[in-house]
Amino acid sequence: MGWLASVLYPVGRYLTPLPETGPTGPVNLTRGEIGKLEQDGFVIVPVVGKRVLVLEDSEGDIRALSARCTHEGCTVQYVADDSLIWCACHNAKFDLEGGVISGPPPKPLPRFYGERRDDGSVVINVVEQA
Ligand code: FES
Repeated sequence: MGWLASVLYPVGRYLTPLPETGPTGPVNLTRGEIGKLEQDGFVIVPVVGKRVLVLEDSEGDIRALSARCTHEGCTVQYVADDSLIWCACHNAKFDLEGGVISGPPPKPLPRFYGERRDDGSVVINVVEQA
């Protein structure tokens, strides 16, 4: 019986389709990622091959932006006390919409869709917002 199960299980897994998720997500944050978001005010997560900065602003809204600085690609971080996003590599500052406040980045950080659902889960979709 064990032998039969060891043969049938991999075949069944192979034939079962993967969960529906497109090239842009949506992706649910894990419990650990949500815990870090709640503790630190932000978390950087991989979403379909991109580094995404997910933060909860002072009004409790979830924001998701590319964590890759548009200057030379360093990873940015959220500075909650100043309500801005900071790149330590060349001291660039971005507002919470991704706009460049100061420093050498040539363009804003791309913004993505992020929301907290009623059940507490956080969903990110890497479709750029205008
Ligand atoms: S890489 Fe971010 S400011 Fe230069």
